[in-house]
Amino acid sequence: MCGIVGAIADRDVVPVLIEGLKRLEYRGYDSAGIAVVDANAGDVRRVRRTGRVAEMEAAAQAEHFASRLGIGHTRWATHGGVTEGNAHPHVSHGELALVHNGIIENHDEQRDRLRKLGYAFESQTDTEVIAHLIHYYRAQGNSLLAALQHAVKELRGAYAIAVIDKRDPDRMVAARMGCPLLVGLGEGENFVASDVSAIVSSTRRVIFLEEGDTAELTRDGVKVFDANGAEIQRDVHVSDVSLASLELGPYRHFMQKEIHEQPRAVADTIEAVMDNRGFSASLFGADADAVMRDVEAVQILACGTSYYAGLVARYWIESIVGIPCAVDIASEYRYRDVVANPKQLVVTISQSGETLDTMEALKYAKSLGHERTLSICNVPESAIPRASRLVYYTRAGAEIGVASTKAFTTQLVALFTLTCTLAKLRGKLDGDIEQSHLEGLRQLPGSVQHALNLEPQIVAWAEKFASKQHALFLGRGMHYPIALEGALKLKEISYIHAEAYPAGELKHGPLALVDSDMPVVVIAPNDMLLEKVKSNIQEVRARGGEMFVFADADSHFGESEQVHVIRTPRHVGVLSPIVHAIPVQLLAYHAALARGTDVDKPRNLAKSVTVE
Ligand code: F6R
Repeated sequence: MCGIVGAIADRDVVPVLIEGLKRLEYRGYDSAGIAVVDANAGDVRRVRRTGRVAEMEAAAQAEHFASRLGIGHTRWATHGGVTEGNAHPHVSHGELALVHNGIIENHDEQRDRLRKLGYAFESQTDTEVIAHLIHYYRAQGNSLLAALQHAVKELRGAYAIAVIDKRDPDRMVAARMGCPLLVGLGEGENFVASDVSAIVSSTRRVIFLEEGDTAELTRDGVKVFDANGAEIQRDVHVSDVSLASLELGPYRHFMQKEIHEQPRAVADTIEAVMDNRGFSASLFGADADAVMRDVEAVQILACGTSYYAGLVARYWIESIVGIPCAVDIASEYRYRDVVANPKQLVVTISQSGETLDTMEALKYAKSLGHERTLSICNVPESAIPRASRLVYYTRAGAEIGVASTKAFTTQLVALFTLTCTLAKLRGKLDGDIEQSHLEGLRQLPGSVQHALNLEPQIVAWAEKFASKQHALFLGRGMHYPIALEGALKLKEISYIHAEAYPAGELKHGPLALVDSDMPVVVIAPNDMLLEKVKSNIQEVRARGGEMFVFADADSHFGESEQVHVIRTPRHVGVLSPIVHAIPVQLLAYHAALARGTDVDKPRNLAKSVTVE
């Protein structure tokens, strides 16, 4: 969703801001803008546009924007429509400019108060309130930092803020509560950003601001203050985000690139297990043994694709560990009366580590007394792992395409590692079985690559899907979540309406939809449910439906005019959902390509969903 970048330097920062905003585009946005302090003219200049960053960049170039101090923003509309007037930065009295991520809950109250103090509002946003509030405290004789610190005390809600002021051209200030914000440390120049990718070509040395922190940046230094206003030293991290992971390279889309990166992403994610020569609690954190040893049940909380990863894990945990596992959509869990069990391990799964619903569900679980919390996450130091006791980082690398692909398969790897670890701690994983699961993981990157090699056959199928309006996905057992994931991928990037059902449920309703216009995708690996799936397929066939079956090499599926089959090279046992995720990703990608949609930035969607 929204993104922030800011820079103070001895060089023109406009290219830094524009590049940063381009790197933040993947998060999803509908308008963009920058504001700079023009020291020569003693002015704040601003340019904003709805639409792409490139349009705003062209306008900034046409107006010869250049400055040594500036802030930029990509906005995903919440309060107020997608208009230039609502785009950030917001300016107060032509003097200070501000960008903001998050939502201010008491904006109405503050707006009334500021109106009485003579402030006029130009936008419908909650953000403009903050700009005026800081201006108000500035007018009381406070420094820019003190004015920000006064103002944030009066805000309720979530914010990451960066502010510049034409009366103070050698300073930028920033604040964070509930939304990520980091400070980048350069040589004679410093930066703020909501996401390290925005500044990684200028510096890799970053300080992640903590809740309630404020910061003051000059060209020569950075000071951080805690929620009480006391100066504090925060750790400096060196980010390992690679520039290559942020570039398209030879690919046409990030989604395509990320689908093809999966053998590497899976191999990187299992590396720690391989180095450790087995499953152990220490993979999840220093006190993981104490946290996990007497766990009686698992509660998984996540949204979207991450939730589907959790659904697969339920099958693994209940069958391999032998303890109950519940999986909840985070936005449902957080508003339901939950019967808490302190011996439950609460596992949140999130690619971004920022998803608000997942974060709130975690906070709710903690408020109920759940102390055993584990985050499976792809973004180091993001909010959800920071709020969790244990962490397992997937090593998928930056995921830029809005549709999650490599994050999903690496989440599954992490969840399988968790399953085996819990089983081992409970004496349910003898040496031979552990070795065979380790071998399965070792072979997995190769099996994923074999599945990727099916792409040419899938392209041919995808062309048939391009003209369809609806599609049905079927799976059974631990492949039912893969059917769900396939349907989600198809609908979000190709806009073809798709539903997923457990194949056994077909005759209880959805069979009524089946006709020759409704393609039916079946995930049919060679497992104990194969014969059941085959009978379900007959039900579709008898109603004239056209079927597209993903099976394993040894599944013995007969092909006909109505039944098309693509075979993954071999069955990989319990890890099969990971391999079967690949063909449904490719099908969605190529169907979207054939329909000419914006694959990496599907309409109405954002990469990081930081609002409710
Ligand atoms: C779908 C997709 C979303 C995310 C969901 C959760 O392709 O990407 O459904 O999975 O928004 O996001 P994270 O995993 O960042 O919490």
